[in-house]
Amino acid sequence: MEKFVIKGGKRLKGTVRISGAKNAAVAVLPAVLLADSPCVIENLPEISDVTAICNCLEALGSKVKYLDNTTVEIDPTGVNSFVVSAAMAKNMRASSYFLGALLGRMKRARVAPPGGCNFGVRPIDQHIKGFEALGAKVSIENGMVEARCQKLGGGSVYLDVVSVGATINIMLAAVKARGTTVIENAAREPHIVDLANFLNSMGANIMGAGTNVIKIRGVEQLNGTTYSVIPDQIEAGTYLVAAAATKGDVTITNVIPKHLESIIAKLVETGATVEQGDEDVRIYLKGRAKKCKVKTMPHPGFPTDMQPQMATLLATADGTSIITEGVWDNRFRYVDQLTLMGAQVQVDGKTAVITGVEKLNSAPVKAVDLRAGAAMIIAGLMAEGTTEIEEIQHIDRGYEKIVEKFTALGADIKRVTDSEAGGLFKAN
Ligand code: EPZ
Repeated sequence: MEKFVIKGGKRLKGTVRISGAKNAAVAVLPAVLLADSPCVIENLPEISDVTAICNCLEALGSKVKYLDNTTVEIDPTGVNSFVVSAAMAKNMRASSYFLGALLGRMKRARVAPPGGCNFGVRPIDQHIKGFEALGAKVSIENGMVEARCQKLGGGSVYLDVVSVGATINIMLAAVKARGTTVIENAAREPHIVDLANFLNSMGANIMGAGTNVIKIRGVEQLNGTTYSVIPDQIEAGTYLVAAAATKGDVTITNVIPKHLESIIAKLVETGATVEQGDEDVRIYLKGRAKKCKVKTMPHPGFPTDMQPQMATLLATADGTSIITEGVWDNRFRYVDQLTLMGAQVQVDGKTAVITGVEKLNSAPVKAVDLRAGAAMIIAGLMAEGTTEIEEIQHIDRGYEKIVEKFTALGADIKRVTDSEAGGLFKAN
């Protein structure tokens, strides 16, 4: 098993290039199944979730060719299977997008329930509601989600909760359906807009992506295209928070600053100075961070995927901060790990009260999920002494070259195998 070993206490300084967005890539790649000819997808992040989706596409019968580390050519013309097995689906949430994409392509999909981060119950009732509105029958058979229909027609769907996954899945199923589909109370995340742009570049007719009403006029055919995925809002936010948390001075490049507005607003409240360029953002923080209140919400609110990282910064802020989780039922599982490092956090339901301490101490901790893992890295960078982080496979799902990127900013972080680690875990 691999771990990260971090010697904390160094201020991050320098420039880091942000990779393509995980949550856009994992929607765009399954969408290639809807094309009648090959697609080239550029600016993909080098992360294990992307590899897993590409493996799925191959298993379904696509030809997948890596043109370089971040560009892949996919020829879906030979796809002959509509089954995504449990072994293929187990590690990623985005496997559910194969339901919409295969339904759109083959009018039939059988997909194992998705894996991914554990935030309590992760239902797909809104996805199913959408497929049914388009005329599909959806059932659970032998532990697999089965969706099928003779033909897909347009339909109106009002989402009872703003769901990124349901919005994406309904778009995928509707894009080649006969007639017009309207999704109301749709999610507005940047990756929804990116998927719509990709599908439109293939010949789809999608309007309103980025607003809460998306209208999809079905088309007969989608053609292959070349498309570059947007930069990762959450990776960008993670480096901004890490810079502030270490009282550093960091410029992130290859970003869309508009996507970072809610994150930047909160960082400014903590006392950071932020300078925005066209495609870059510089942040620095002098002195101790100030307390603030954060409530996570669907876009354009503060992203839930930045909540653990922000809580970690606030752990050493001056004063008491309050974080309210407005998206997931159970996204404070990392707090136990943070308190091992000396943070003072009280969780009551969906609210965490963080009493800022002067400093964090190193400790052996775990990445309980992807963003929790990023938070543990930030905590390790802030803490005095050596922190070891276990279960880093969660982090590898979503952060490209994280050791190399933090090292280039001056951090002392290494990836080691169990036998090379300093024994912090063995002592416990
Ligand atoms: C996406 O998950 C992201 N994953 C998550 O990021 C992110 O936390 C989440 O959106 C919210 O922004 C990907 O894009 C691959 P949702 P998703 O459907 O689509 C409820 C990361 O760290 N809900 O928007 O699964 C649900 O329980 C990952 O990169 C239903 O009730 O999230 C939750 O409370 C982790 N019924 C809320 O909606 C449904 O059918 C939002 O979930 C679907 C969702």
